[in-house]
Amino acid sequence: MTTEINTDHLRARMVQRLLARGAIVSPAVEAAFRAVPRHCFAPEVSPEEVYEAPEAIFTKHVDGGRAVSSVSAPWLHARMLEAAELDVGMRVLEIGSGGCNAALLAEMVGPGGSVTSVDIDPDITDRARRLLAETGYTRVEVCTSDGAQPLAEAPPDGWDRIIVTTWATDLPEAWFEQLGASGRLVVPLRFRGLSRTLAFTWHGKHLRSDTSVVSGFLAMQGISVQAPRVVRLVDAEVRLVVDEEQPADDQALRKAFVSTRRERWSGVELTGSEGLLPRLDVWLAGEVVPYGRLRATQAAAERGLVGWVLGSGAGAVWNGDSLAYLTLRQAPGKPEHFELGAIGHGPAGDELASRLTDTLVRWDATARRTGEPLVRAYRRRGAEQPEGVVIEKPSARLTIT
Ligand SMILES: C[S@@+](CC[C@H](N)C(=O)[O-])C[C@H]1O[C@@H](n2cnc3c(N)ncnc32)[C@H](O)[C@@H]1O
Repeated sequence: MTTEINTDHLRARMVQRLLARGAIVSPAVEAAFRAVPRHCFAPEVSPEEVYEAPEAIFTKHVDGGRAVSSVSAPWLHARMLEAAELDVGMRVLEIGSGGCNAALLAEMVGPGGSVTSVDIDPDITDRARRLLAETGYTRVEVCTSDGAQPLAEAPPDGWDRIIVTTWATDLPEAWFEQLGASGRLVVPLRFRGLSRTLAFTWHGKHLRSDTSVVSGFLAMQGISVQAPRVVRLVDAEVRLVVDEEQPADDQALRKAFVSTRRERWSGVELTGSEGLLPRLDVWLAGEVVPYGRLRATQAAAERGLVGWVLGSGAGAVWNGDSLAYLTLRQAPGKPEHFELGAIGHGPAGDELASRLTDTLVRWDATARRTGEPLVRAYRRRGAEQPEGVVIEKPSARLTIT
């Protein structure tokens, strides 16, 4: 009895926090969060820890500690459920099973809907099945399968919602094939070194995003995975995340990075409270070719190896023997304002840095006030030809405007 009261109280406090930070917006998501006993899906840790945890709770590790499964962070469950725009009676596919999110989905679609949850790992599906049964969510169907493959259980007219809860590097053909005509696909997608949870709907024969959430996830396993491509510029301390099939000469770029630094400043200013950098990063990925992310450790920054680079990294461009990346500086005399600029290295470093600052000026004039960039996803095998800069994935083509 005491435990019951305690967990109800802890859950109510968690819901209050999620409402306060704007992660829960709709009454339906709030009701689902109030109903699902989250602590029952992570019995390895105390209820206090489950309800107070700001981020994911890892539930399986391999290879001396690498996490491969988790119960995702409450704020991320909430943001993804809001992005999914669920309704009663819907048929939902969840890819990646922890049990907790499937229970939330089951609450939201009600007894007239259906939830099928697939995971590639039989330990995880066994666990999810057991925890869902213990909490009374027996109507969630749990299957062991690679979620990138078509599922025999899919409704003939496709799923109303596909919710991917593992970090995808591609949009496999099966998702295009098995998403219903009015469906929504919510997926944490990695492209050009960036990670965004995107919600897509159909527009003719391609998908368009209408929601973007900055979020990390555990990497997807199985057939559709594209290994990240990283150039170590200074050991593991300064890295250039290249991704996709973008040519990069590791040795030449390492050599460039230790050559003289050239700075260019754009005159484009931001304030921290505008929160524009995540949008700018995605927009640049649709404009600059090649485009990736320069990442540096705190120690590298303290040693002056890089200019001002945030923890999430900085957009970067390169060619055969030179590179440039975005940076910031305090705008003179304006404590809350930061000016965007670029730092170049190598024979064409100055030219690449100017290219970046010219693009920043164009963003300021055209895209700064237009909201989240729009990501379009085309089937690689489809007849429709995307226009502009195309990010090539094994099964999909992306454009960003
Ligand atoms: C973050 S956890 C899922 C969290 C969960 N949905 C929850 O309720 O919080 C990611 C899961 O994705 C699974 N996974 C990875 N690759 C997969 C694939 N190709 N198909 C299905 N599941 C996959 C992993 O085994 C892991 O259990």
